[in-house]
Amino acid sequence: MIIGGPSSQLLGGRVATILNEDLALCEYSRFPDGEAYTQVCSDLDDRIVVVQSTPSDRDIIQLLQLLDVFRGRRIDLVVPYFGYARQDKQFKPGEPLSARAMAVAIDAFLEEGSRFFTVNIHDRSVLKNFKHKAEDLDATPLLADEIQKMNLDDPVIISPDKGAVRMAKVAATRLGIDYDYLEKTRHSGTEVSMAPKEIDASGRDVVILDDMIVTGGTMAQAISILKSNGAKRVYLGSVHPVLTGSAVLKLCRAGVESIIATDTLEKAVSTVSVARLIADAVRP
Ligand code: R5P
Repeated sequence: MIIGGPSSQLLGGRVATILNEDLALCEYSRFPDGEAYTQVCSDLDDRIVVVQSTPSDRDIIQLLQLLDVFRGRRIDLVVPYFGYARQDKQFKPGEPLSARAMAVAIDAFLEEGSRFFTVNIHDRSVLKNFKHKAEDLDATPLLADEIQKMNLDDPVIISPDKGAVRMAKVAATRLGIDYDYLEKTRHSGTEVSMAPKEIDASGRDVVILDDMIVTGGTMAQAISILKSNGAKRVYLGSVHPVLTGSAVLKLCRAGVESIIATDTLEKAVSTVSVARLIADAVRP
């Protein structure tokens, strides 16, 4: 039985369809004081797969509520977008490692034999905080297959920083095309420039690939740099379209051609589904 959490209802439904399993009826609402109300209304099967991304604090609360419903049972838990994953280091004294706190809290609910999955978590080291089996699934090949269909002109895949170059490499290798990353060069205390490390993008279609787009600041800057380097058309690919506030406006103003992303977060740009990736991982 598949449990689609409040933020992953469509994705949960897609996984259920692929696996030909029941999708549980659940109710997600609020008490009059604003506290979250969660109820699993269907009778439970022996095997339970919970799918719930945690982009907001409320989603984390509702995930913990669901886990409490399944206390004492072995489950497969999929958190496609793992909120707080970027807070995995202490930058100032007194700061928590929030990613570790989330991992420890979730892990405490899992019974012996349960499995935990994420999709392109910001840093896989977070999974070391789980005592249970924890695995990160890679949606990059799915984005690459979508890029393949886009009919691009002499395309190159570029990551906006060295941290995401692994994704660019995986996608480009699958497509048999070039990849690179934007490198920062410091000229003085105040002057910093960024450019593709090796590849000349001028006259070429570029896909900028990153694990997530949050405020859009990183991608907007990357688009401007590549355009001023003579790139023809600039597309964005991202696993997690967090897209807070006016991120989309920022990207449109920077001149993006289009954005492709997955349904780890269910947004208008989530045209690539990770349902099959999840279904294959949890298949008995
Ligand atoms: C950073 O390490 C991530 O990979 C993304 O580049 C970053 O989180 C994007 O954030 P924003 O859209 O706010 O620039």
